[in-house]
Amino acid sequence: MPITSDLIIGESFKTLRELLHDKKDIVIITDFNVNNLYDNYFPSKKTIIIGTGENIKTLDTVSSIYERLLNFESDRSTFVLAIGGGIVCDIAGFASSTFMRGLDFGFVPTTLLAQVDASIGGKNGVNLKGYKNIIGVFNQPEFIFYNFQFLKTLNAKEYSCGLAEVIKHSLITGSELINFLEINNSKILSMDESAIKRIVSDSIKIKSNIINMDEFEKGERRKLNFGHTIGHALQSLTTINHGDAVAMGMMFAVRYSCSKGFLSTVSRDRIEKLIHSYGLSTDISDLKIRRKDIADAVRKDKKKDSGDIHFIFLKDIGESEIIKIPMEQLEEAIIDLC
Ligand SMILES: NC(=O)c1ccc[n+]([C@@H]2O[C@H](COP(=O)([O-])OP(=O)(O)OC[C@H]3O[C@@H](n4cnc5c(N)ncnc54)[C@H](O)[C@@H]3O)[C@@H](O)[C@H]2O)c1
Ligand SMILES: [Zn+2]
Repeated sequence: MPITSDLIIGESFKTLRELLHDKKDIVIITDFNVNNLYDNYFPSKKTIIIGTGENIKTLDTVSSIYERLLNFESDRSTFVLAIGGGIVCDIAGFASSTFMRGLDFGFVPTTLLAQVDASIGGKNGVNLKGYKNIIGVFNQPEFIFYNFQFLKTLNAKEYSCGLAEVIKHSLITGSELINFLEINNSKILSMDESAIKRIVSDSIKIKSNIINMDEFEKGERRKLNFGHTIGHALQSLTTINHGDAVAMGMMFAVRYSCSKGFLSTVSRDRIEKLIHSYGLSTDISDLKIRRKDIADAVRKDKKKDSGDIHFIFLKDIGESEIIKIPMEQLEEAIIDLC
């Protein structure tokens, strides 16, 4: 099993074929939509097609993959290539890591969110009884192959989900990425390839640096949850997409940081303007949900942790800090700021 992954960014499909040429047996795992759009790019005849949507991220789907691997007479020499969004990568990474105690695997992330976030960091897993990603392993793919052509067929909402994570990366670490996002808004929104290469490469660097410090999420890695404590709660209460939920969650964290005196109102307004410029929402009050319900949803989501919440505050743009606060304190902030 590899400890580190090779990251191949912006290369052609010829390079992917070269990466695979010494693999004796390849099984592709993809989803229905990606297969419809791209099956003629796939190098293998052995393909497992799963469904789409968070509801299929289950042990049942993993079990059906194990059965297909058995039917293909896969063994320890089989290489699994996951081609798809975060759901395909998470499920395929988990199935590969556990079948016969672990097959080697590679990722070809096809959504922006998967390219800037889900494919990086070695977390693979599935949901159980409403708890997201509660069953899983830490295990790195042999390689991750990033090709930006895939992004051209994403719809605007899927694309903006990835952009929310890019904005998150620009806010939590001291980098130049925020300036680039501000200056190159129209290029990024029109999927200019060199602009995409920059935001994907920067995101990979930022996320990998954090993970190198804390692979198993004991500390620093929690910063990647910036905006997600409230974001996940909002998603559990409404049908909004992950991008808008995270954008609202980030803006809540920004306002909370301001109210604690950590962050200036000038920085707050700059962040809000940036988030809006990418078509993402920031106002939780527009959702017309009760603040108490948001607090209850956070509490339910955190039931698996002990009483306190590791909340990610911003001390400045590009400087985040993890502070442990009692749930009651966060509830008060939700009542005041949502
Ligand atoms: N492992 C991690 O560290 C990590 C981090 C962040 C998110 N995630 C997980 O990622 C998942 C979300 O990932 P996602 O946003 O990529 O969702 P997704 O995998 O559901 O993909 C979104 C939709 O886009 C379609 N699609 C994929 N590629 C396409 C393309 N090139 N063109 C057109 N359509 C395409 C898919 O079929 C799907 O309908 C969640 O389950 C989340 O928990 C994991
Ligand atoms: Zn996210």
